[in-house]
Order: sequence, then C-alpha cells, then structure tokens
Amino acid sequence: MKLAVLVITWLACMLMPAEMIKLNIGSKKTYPIVTGAEVGSMYIADHRYIANYHTANASRQDITRAVIVVHGKHRDAWNYYRAVQSAVKVSAVNASNIFIIAPLFLSTWDLDLAKPTSLIWKDNSWMDGGDAINYTISSFSVLDYLVSHFSDKNRFPNLDSVVITGHSGGAQLVQRYSLVGNDSTDGINLRYVIANPSSFVYFNEYRPRNVDPIRCPDWNTWKYGIVKPPRYVLESQRVKGLTDLGSALETFAARDIVYMNGQYDNFTSGNALDTGCEAEAQGVSHIDRGLAYWSYITSILPLSNFNQDIEIVPRMNHNATGMFCSTAGLYAILES
Ligand SMILES: *[C@@H]1O[C@H](CO)[C@@H](O)[C@H](O)[C@H]1NC(C)=O
Ligand SMILES: *[C@@H]1O[C@H](CO)[C@@H](O)[C@H](O)[C@H]1NC(C)=O
Ligand SMILES: *[C@@H]1O[C@H](CO)[C@@H](O)[C@H](O)[C@H]1NC(C)=O
Ligand SMILES: *[C@@H]1O[C@H](CO)[C@@H](O)[C@H](O)[C@H]1NC(C)=O
Ligand SMILES: *[C@@H]1O[C@H](CO)[C@@H](O)[C@H](O)[C@H]1NC(C)=O
Ligand SMILES: *[C@@H]1O[C@H](CO)[C@@H](O)[C@H](O)[C@H]1NC(C)=O
Repeated sequence: MKLAVLVITWLACMLMPAEMIKLNIGSKKTYPIVTGAEVGSMYIADHRYIANYHTANASRQDITRAVIVVHGKHRDAWNYYRAVQSAVKVSAVNASNIFIIAPLFLSTWDLDLAKPTSLIWKDNSWMDGGDAINYTISSFSVLDYLVSHFSDKNRFPNLDSVVITGHSGGAQLVQRYSLVGNDSTDGINLRYVIANPSSFVYFNEYRPRNVDPIRCPDWNTWKYGIVKPPRYVLESQRVKGLTDLGSALETFAARDIVYMNGQYDNFTSGNALDTGCEAEAQGVSHIDRGLAYWSYITSILPLSNFNQDIEIVPRMNHNATGMFCSTAGLYAILES
C-alpha cells in the first residue's frame, strides 16, 4: 500500500516537467488545454476581466478550500494549475473539496492572448503590485477580488480556507501581498505560501549584505523596500502607505504565512535569480535570501501573535512542481 502510494506520487509529479506546455504554439500564443480545468474570465472592476484556469465542473457545496496559484515570470498559468493539480493527486485530500484557480496576469508581451476587456500589465509589473495599463487596478486588487469571491458564502457555502501560493516570480507577488493585501472575512482562514522568491520587501534599512547606496540608489525602493510603494499601498487605509509600521507589522506578524525554500536552490546566477544589486543585498541565492529574511522578520516582528513558519525542502532546486509536491508543500497548501 505504502509502495503503491509512493509510486503514484512519483508518477503524478514526475510526469509534469516532461509535459510542460510551451508558451508558444506555432508563432501565435493560444490557451493550452488542461485536463480537468477550463479557461475562465473573471470580472474584476471597471468592465475589466482576468483570464484564469480553474477547476471545471466543481460542485460548489463540496468545496472547502480554494487554492489560488500565481504563475512565475513566464506567466504560464496553465503549468501552475497543473502543478497544484498534481499535488492534489498525491496528497491525502479529496480532490472534490479543492477548487484550484490560476489567474493570468497578462503582460504587454502577451497581446495574442488578450481580449478587448482584458487587464494588461506593462512587462512584469504585476509582480510588484503595479496597476494595469490604463486602469487603477493593481495586481494586489486582483488577489483581493479573488479572496472576496471565495469568501462569499452564497457561492461556496462550506469553504473555510483560502490559500494563495506562488513560486519564484509568483512568490514575489504573494510575499508583497501578504504584507499589504486585504484581510479575509467571515471566519475564512487565509494562508500565504511563498516558495523560492528572488526578493522580499524589507520594512527598514537593514539588509543582510552590504550595499553601496551610490552604486545602488534604489536598494530600498519598492519592491525591495518600502520607499515609493505603488498606488495601492499608498491608498491603503490598513497599511497607511506603510508609514505606520507599528500596526501594519502587527497585522502582518499575525498572518498565516509559510515560506518555503529548496535546499539546493543555491545557485548564484542564471535567469531565475534576480542579480540586481537591490536583490543581491538580500542574499546570494534564493535559499540564502529566504533564510536571511526569516532571521530578519523573526528579529523585527512582534512575536506575541506570530503565525509564520519556514520550511526547507531537502535536496530541492528551483522547481515549482517539486516544491508544491514535497511533504511540506502538500501540508501547507492542501493538508492543514
Ligand atoms: C521538478 O520536480 C519534479 C517533482 O519532484 C521532478 O519530477 C522534476 O524532475 C523536477 N524538474 C527538474 C527540472 O528538476
Ligand atoms: C464539464 O462537464 C461538461 C458536461 O458534463 C462536459 O461536457 C465537459 O467536458 C466538462 N469539462 C471538463 C473540463 O471536464
Ligand atoms: C470526496 O468528497 C465527495 C464530495 O464531498 C464525496 O461525495 C466523496 O465520497 C468523497 N470521496 C472520498 C473517497 O471520501
Ligand atoms: C490605453 O489607452 C490608450 C489611449 O486610449 C489606448 O491607445 C491603448 O490601446 C490602451 N491600452 C490598453 C492596454 O488598453
Ligand atoms: C479591500 O479592502 C478595502 C478596504 O477595507 C475595501 O474597500 C475593498 O472593498 C476590499 N476589496 C475587496 C475586493 O474586497
Ligand atoms: C549548492 O548545493 C549543492 C549541494 O549541497 C552543492 O553541491 C553546490 O556546490 C552548491 N552550490 C553553490 C553555488 O553553493
């Protein structure tokens, strides 16, 4: 029995990368088909919509947990839907109880996939909470709308838990959102699972590594620090432009956040790693930056109501499927 479970685990998560669906089919981008999922268009505001992959034909009253998974910098929402779908298959949970949604933050590089009503971000500015082109709608607001959608008891009467997760570029958005985003309502637990981001927001001038402010003038500017945050943050009543660090940090400390890092995600160069001086000040590799941020927040945050955790996935490199399907990933995203 145990062996059978292990073999199934191996298959569901091993088959993924070989089948990773390429962004371009021919020269024109199209929405790849994902078994069990459908491509949806979710209303956000101002007559604008967000495309997404979500669980098809779900029975709403059976859903107890929604998993919102944010794609990485290549914006391949379909592969992230599949990564969580594989995790569900190998986990101890009943798939009928889980609703997966992978929103697609279209960029100016993705016009082939856009409709006239789509929200579109300049380059990858969705990653740091920026506004969509021509609309005062931040990628943080999109997550707010998703959380409020799943918190609505008329839609999902038995849902008690929303998990927002991402890996790498997606984890960057989730990390920043965990600091500034709206709270959940109606007794719904909101958890943030942040796997292998390239950088974090620091709340003050401390950095784990030396930084030369002459050579690196933006070392403390958003998205690395709290100087010049985006409109959403400036207008937020809750974080008051992050100037009121006391109360904002208390709320932040009490949020249910799981940081995850791959033990072997230790490379110090390459495409997946931000090697700008602002990020280098936070550590030399993803794992180094993750551990340094953990020491930082555990030294600066009020610990009386602290609700955050870090998990190191043994022998794992920079791999979304591997992180989500790990024992710690399954526990954080699906099983607890
Ligand atoms: C990512 O992790 C999965 C699941 O553990 C594994 O099957 C796959 O080979 C890994 N991919 C890479 C590129 O290492
Ligand atoms: C959803 O259910 C309909 C009707 O039974 C079916 O035609 C469709 O293929 C299902 N969608 C998916 C993605 O399974
Ligand atoms: C999974 O959940 C569905 C809906 O709640 C239920 O009908 C089904 O019996 C469950 N399956 C198992 C194996 O518990
Ligand atoms: C933004 O507005 C300008 C001026 O109306 C228009 O030309 C452009 O196509 C719009 N861009 C997007 C992405 O909607
Ligand atoms: C987010 O919170 C603000 C301030 O409390 C509120 O005005 C707004 O409606 C919330 N957004 C969503 C989508 O629930
Ligand atoms: C990353 O970790 C692996 C396994 O411990 C080790 O072999 C490798 O030298 C490390 N790489 C760097 C850049 O530290």
